[in-house]
Amino acid sequence: MDKISTTLVLLGISLALCGAANPPQDDDCPNFDEWFFSNNATFENHPIEFEHPLPKWLRGTLIRNGAGQVEMGNRKFVNFFDGYAKLNSWRFPGNGSAFFSTKFIQSKVYTESVAKGDIAPFLTFEGVVPPFGEVERYESFLLNMDNTVVNVFNYSNKIVAMNDIWKVYEINPLNLDTLGEVNPPTPPTQYSNLFRLNVMSTAHPVKEYGTPHTFDILNTFSLMPGTKERLSVIRVTSLTGRELVAEWEIDRTSYMHSFSVTPNYVILLAAPYYVNMNDMLKYASVVGGMAWNAQDNATFYVVEIKTGKVHTLVTENVFVVHHINAFELRDGKIVLDVPAQPNPYAFSLYDLAYIHNKTARVNLIAKPVLTRYTLDLQTKNVQRLSLASGPKAPCVGALEMPVFNENYRHMNYCYIYGQVINYNGKGFSHIALVKKNLCDNAGDLMYTATHQYLTEPWFVPQPGGEDEDDGVLMASAFDGDKGMSYLLMLDPKTMTEINRSYMPTRIPFNFHGRFFDAVY
Ligand SMILES: [Fe+2]
Repeated sequence: MDKISTTLVLLGISLALCGAANPPQDDDCPNFDEWFFSNNATFENHPIEFEHPLPKWLRGTLIRNGAGQVEMGNRKFVNFFDGYAKLNSWRFPGNGSAFFSTKFIQSKVYTESVAKGDIAPFLTFEGVVPPFGEVERYESFLLNMDNTVVNVFNYSNKIVAMNDIWKVYEINPLNLDTLGEVNPPTPPTQYSNLFRLNVMSTAHPVKEYGTPHTFDILNTFSLMPGTKERLSVIRVTSLTGRELVAEWEIDRTSYMHSFSVTPNYVILLAAPYYVNMNDMLKYASVVGGMAWNAQDNATFYVVEIKTGKVHTLVTENVFVVHHINAFELRDGKIVLDVPAQPNPYAFSLYDLAYIHNKTARVNLIAKPVLTRYTLDLQTKNVQRLSLASGPKAPCVGALEMPVFNENYRHMNYCYIYGQVINYNGKGFSHIALVKKNLCDNAGDLMYTATHQYLTEPWFVPQPGGEDEDDGVLMASAFDGDKGMSYLLMLDPKTMTEINRSYMPTRIPFNFHGRFFDAVY
């Protein structure tokens, strides 16, 4: 959504409320705004205490990525997504002790911004206030995006921080030091790279079935009007190793933040949310360069991993931020689960103007619907099924930030965990963590606690556990009453609290994380 559309959405919300004598506000939320304020404090392996003994099997490190600072000097970011990346980690050596670290990624944009006392001109997701001048806009377009604020992943035992861009930053998982920028060469192509930009990718790589490798995608933009753009599926073989799996030309590039993988296929869902490089240059922001065509269909690209052959299946309009899991049925059909969005306006959920407006944030800009797609490559039929919520957790169908037991990746499974923002219609600050039971929706569960603000959970499976939900669910949380951050642990079987540990400093809202069991 461009800036104009964003303004219209927020204006629409305001106008809708103008007639009300007492417009509802998201006001029963002590210290909620503080959750999105900057915090410069850093810690390295600070010992932390939990209220109860930790599971004896718990060994590894949870690392979460998010914004730690949303301004520099007199300039602010428009969207929390652009805040300077700050990592948080909880290290469990396996002897009952635990250690907390938090540090900024020493990216180019962060270090150059600190040095000049102003936001350095790199491409942003949604711009800065006051806006960059013309020269800085060109500069930011040329330098592209640098802030790897969204996710973390393990590439051949090297931990990297990432955004929807090709480059990543390598980090030391033991102390969160930044080891350096990694900008791998793109694989050779049969097409032209003349006047093309190989800059965008996704922040959600997916493991390949049966190998130590990972898949991601590469968007190739054209700077010449009338020429084709390109999509590629890439195999990540090491920190810098990239192999081409498939590539194909497209008329227009759709913004994609994630995708699905089964044992034999990589599945992309291209929504009509198009990226226009000229507009990106004009607004010096990714969102400014994107346009939502609500009347257009969406397209599934199903790539055969072995041959690189691409199947194209057209489906009705939809926008998807996060794919969840995917698998193949015995008859060859492909099943994939997604929180389906009616439009891409959910990104505006993290506009700081919306976040800090109690009246606006009563309204959810776009509500996702947990949806299962079944694809038939023979008939090109796409079946779309909305998954109804069970009675114990009526909000579960609106989950986002989905995770599941990664041991069940690429296969049929029962449980999805996620975050539901504004689960009760009272505002953004009312956040539930939920468990969707795909095998029996009577087993849907939710966890909420008054004045507790909860991020995406992460499921840590118990080694040797028999059940899919044997493990611990961990979430970064902020206690609004105490004004303190803590790590929350839930029993995934019951979605009840089993442990928590308060942190020595406030952790601002964070997006994604992973538990690395080989790092302790
Ligand atoms: Fe994401």
